[in-house]
Amino acid sequence: MKENSFNILAFETSCDDTSVAVINDRYEVLSNLISSQTQHEEFGGVVPEIASRLHLKNIVSLTHHALEKSGVTLSDIDAVAVSVNPGLIGSLLVGLSFAKGLAWSRGLPLITVNHMVGHIYANVIENPDLSPPFAALVVSGGHTELVHFHDWENFEIIGRTLDDAAGEAFDKTAKLLNLGYPGGPVIDKLAKKGNPDFHHFPRALNVKDNFDFSFSGLKTAIMTYVRDKDEAFLEVNKANIAASLQEAIIEILVKKTIQYTKKARVKQVVLAGGVSANSGLRALMESECAKLKVRLYYPPLKLCMDNAAMIGAAAIIKYKRSDFAQLDANAFSTKGLRNI
Ligand code: KG4
Ligand code: ZN
Repeated sequence: MKENSFNILAFETSCDDTSVAVINDRYEVLSNLISSQTQHEEFGGVVPEIASRLHLKNIVSLTHHALEKSGVTLSDIDAVAVSVNPGLIGSLLVGLSFAKGLAWSRGLPLITVNHMVGHIYANVIENPDLSPPFAALVVSGGHTELVHFHDWENFEIIGRTLDDAAGEAFDKTAKLLNLGYPGGPVIDKLAKKGNPDFHHFPRALNVKDNFDFSFSGLKTAIMTYVRDKDEAFLEVNKANIAASLQEAIIEILVKKTIQYTKKARVKQVVLAGGVSANSGLRALMESECAKLKVRLYYPPLKLCMDNAAMIGAAAIIKYKRSDFAQLDANAFSTKGLRNI
């Protein structure tokens, strides 16, 4: 175990945000820069080829700026960390190739990180004492998984989406309502002004002891609902539709997480991924966890969406164990937490 103080330079390029961060062994984030690619907005979703080209364009200057902002130089860096799965393969390869080049040229160890594990570690940055066992609800634009972490190395996937991810349901509804991309933040904001009981959208797989999720039926239900309404109705009721949709998503996320928490007698719940920024989800999970005297963790808002600080945070324990990757390490798009 390496116990001396150290700094990690981390990269995250799994989707449409290029991010570079410097974090030290005490989980202090010295810098965490994110360059968001607004170029996808006009397409209503991420265009993979554009995403990889923009990562390529941004990564060098972002690295310079992240180092400058952190107050440390490249000579103070002890390891290079990078997310290698899951994600868009072209995007991941830009980050991995750059990280490899840097690690090789500076003689530094390379640490590869699973993106979803990174999201969970976003919680550790403000709560360095957080440790398993806990149930983690990982909800992002591409993933919805309920995972039981027995310890950091040993986890069990309890449920996962059979089709769309929770974030996708937010994004696709926003697209149908012409609210732009990504849909989550704008629906969250609108929902605060709307009535969640305005319309009852379906809650799929709403059965005891089934911990899988499904959101594609919800997408179809919204599509059908919107198709039958005129523009004036949709404009006037935008907030009500957003609130009803949000309620349908968060109710099922919370219900299944709480049911499992009770069943497995887990005492801690962790939220992770972009959708963990949702104010309705946080509030409902908080009140349900309080009833069970279960402690709830969620990341600070700035660490919910994709960022390199969470990748660096996940790399700290690997650095201490000298769990390094070789320079022939590959990236892969595989969904979920299976391959760490
Ligand atoms: O984790 P993330 O940044 O990227 C992936 O790994 O997919 O998550 C992005 C997702 C998008 O679908 C976005 O709409 C959603 O997180 N999101 C939210 C909120 N903020 C971001 N969903 C609901 N409420 C929010 N406040
Ligand atoms: Zn993510």
